[in-house]
Amino acid sequence: GQLEKGGFPHFMLKEIFDQPDCISDCMRGRVNTDTCTVTLSAVSNYKEQLLRAGRFIIVACGTSWHAGLIGKQLIESFCRIPVEVEYASEFRYRNPVIHPDDVVIAISQSGETADTLAAIELAKSQGAFIYGICNVIGSSIARATDTGSCIHVGPEIGVASTKAFTGQVTVLTLLALALGREKGTLSEEEYHRIVKELVAVPEKMRTVLKQHLFIADFSKMFTYARNFIYLGRGYAFPIALEGALKLKEISYIHAEGYPAAEMKHGPIALIDAEMPVVIVATQSPLYEKVLSNIQEIKARKGRVVAVVTEGDTVIRNLADYSIELPATLECLNPLVASIPLQLLAYHIAVCRGMDVDQPRNLAKSVTVE
Ligand code: G6P
Repeated sequence: GQLEKGGFPHFMLKEIFDQPDCISDCMRGRVNTDTCTVTLSAVSNYKEQLLRAGRFIIVACGTSWHAGLIGKQLIESFCRIPVEVEYASEFRYRNPVIHPDDVVIAISQSGETADTLAAIELAKSQGAFIYGICNVIGSSIARATDTGSCIHVGPEIGVASTKAFTGQVTVLTLLALALGREKGTLSEEEYHRIVKELVAVPEKMRTVLKQHLFIADFSKMFTYARNFIYLGRGYAFPIALEGALKLKEISYIHAEGYPAAEMKHGPIALIDAEMPVVIVATQSPLYEKVLSNIQEIKARKGRVVAVVTEGDTVIRNLADYSIELPATLECLNPLVASIPLQLLAYHIAVCRGMDVDQPRNLAKSVTVE
């Protein structure tokens, strides 16, 4: 009812706005803001199993799989352990190579996704150690795992996942930080610097949410769009995939997420005045390359929505709409940069008159194949 939505017209919008508090809840008791340290009970209790891992295999579906792609970059970069990210539905039927020293990370908001549960059972039967990242305590997946961490973001009602996604990314960040410190692959200085920046994320999310009305306003321009391309590189590539998924799910506009550098190998052929391109172009070592992608799109008359770092006047003058984000570390950028894309999908869907919380053909959790 109206009361549960806390004055918001849809659960999805409420859940988008809940994210700063959700991320604080997720970090509560785990991040010490005085010492800038992370304690994850699963890492403390299963140090041996986690530290001897030769490889991590992340299994998940949908939005949780996108969180997994970010987790791969975090774990590889902080812990120097190879990580594979698998769709649970493919993994379970592929006769995958699983070693007893593999650690499987299963990510699932509901904890009830049938394919993810089956992937866990398969990995378990081959001796892998299973770490779960779920929102629902006591769910089937939470019970099937050896250990894990709850994301603590509260019940998610909107079918399109928002706060669970940022919660999953937060837990993956905490896991990578805790393990990287244990392994010594992350210098003490870097570790503390990242934790300190992570603590600042909820406030930065609030700053992004203040652009809600600006995003609502220009979203109208895309009410009748038929297709969208979403681009990003590095940590921003999964953000592009997730942004495109949000749009598909609730507005029924066809959208494709692509790594920006791959544009030249196909999607550039699609660009004309009818093709809006959403591009994450925040500060990063690859900024200049993404900037030239924007120039290429504008040269072909594509409409550009750019997500940039505060004060970026170069892209502001180039893009049709530019959404400015507070600066953060590149590895934490997904937490901040995913929010404007959630809002964009939400407002376009509202302009199109769609049932945002209950999109056609989709279920909140897919407990059968
Ligand atoms: C369904 C939902 C998605 C979700 C996916 C995985 O498709 O509509 O929002 O990302 O399942 O769900 P899980 O609960 O395992 O994260």
